[in-house]
Amino acid sequence: MKFGHVLITGGAGFVGSQLLKRMEPLAEHIHVIDDLSAGDPNAVLRSDKVTFYKGSYFDEKLLDQVLPQVEWIFHLACRSLSMSILDMKEDLNTNLYGAYVLLEKTKALCPSLQRIVYTSTASVYGNAPVRPTPESFYDISTPYSASKFAAEHYFHMFYQMYELPVTLVRLSNVYGPGQVVSNPYCGVVAKFFDHLQKEAPFSIYGDGRQTRDFTFIEDALDAILAAAVSPKSLGQLYNIGTGIETNIRELAQHIAATAGFTDYPAEYLPKRPIDHIAGRSVDITHIRQALGWSPKHTLQQGLVKTYAWLNQGH
Ligand SMILES: NC(=O)c1ccc[n+]([C@@H]2O[C@H](COP(=O)([O-])OP(=O)(O)OC[C@H]3O[C@@H](n4cnc5c(N)ncnc54)[C@H](O)[C@@H]3O)[C@@H](O)[C@H]2O)c1
Repeated sequence: MKFGHVLITGGAGFVGSQLLKRMEPLAEHIHVIDDLSAGDPNAVLRSDKVTFYKGSYFDEKLLDQVLPQVEWIFHLACRSLSMSILDMKEDLNTNLYGAYVLLEKTKALCPSLQRIVYTSTASVYGNAPVRPTPESFYDISTPYSASKFAAEHYFHMFYQMYELPVTLVRLSNVYGPGQVVSNPYCGVVAKFFDHLQKEAPFSIYGDGRQTRDFTFIEDALDAILAAAVSPKSLGQLYNIGTGIETNIRELAQHIAATAGFTDYPAEYLPKRPIDHIAGRSVDITHIRQALGWSPKHTLQQGLVKTYAWLNQGH
């Protein structure tokens, strides 16, 4: 895989910072835009091939400067699910209006665009009755899933109307090296490892029987890049996950076992407004058949790599 000039929005966040590390040897130059509302500037790889801009990804002046140089765009910047509950207007502005501005500017300023990839979310499946859930289903139950789902449609519309080379992926509970608790909205895997390091009990919201489909970061990056470069992916939407459900109690046990505990205490807290999803797993048949991608890591293997990374002092 070879990339010329790349833009990663949200490149100081978890997935974006890991995508940057993965792509740096493969690209001529990578521009990173992040407003650091949740990201960490220290997570942005320092390299002659990387230019970091602290700012909003839909700051039009910044886009006027950056986009004419760019052939590949990975749009990851977002307000998180937890933030969307606290400030719905900001979620709408960043996740939907911002995406519209980025699309308009890309159409106008990127004559050599090879691909624009948008990372959407399995949150659009809400409480899906069918699991693993295929791409055709939706059940919008949070501001975040509403804005991300609507932005998917804007991307698709720009593909249909203007032949913008768009690819959409829906990620499901990504975890692994690079996910840090300095981002207060990080996922449950990072939080549980943090509890272990602080010798505090795991905090479980509700009864812990709710399930999620946990995807290891290396597998997610493989899928994102495979989708980005394949001509078959133009205008396509793919689930990225494992198709396997793990409940939060089981996750806690796996994480404790990874760190050598046979038993580890947990405290059960009342559910938060974002905890109404009883179960999730995504159907990955489409990406498997189209691109031959499937995850290489079991949850246990991914947790072992995550723990090893944490033990290197992260
Ligand atoms: N991590 C997951 O489990 C997961 C699951 C489903 C979908 N996704 C999607 O993947 C993408 C990356 O997720 P993540 O986990 O890395 O999130 P993250 O919160 O770690 O990173 C998002 C980054 O976007 C930045 N940002 C927010 N508003 C911005 C703005 N206006 N301009 C520039 N930067 C801005 C934040 O500072 C942060 O660094 C998101 O689009 C998210 O919806 C992630």
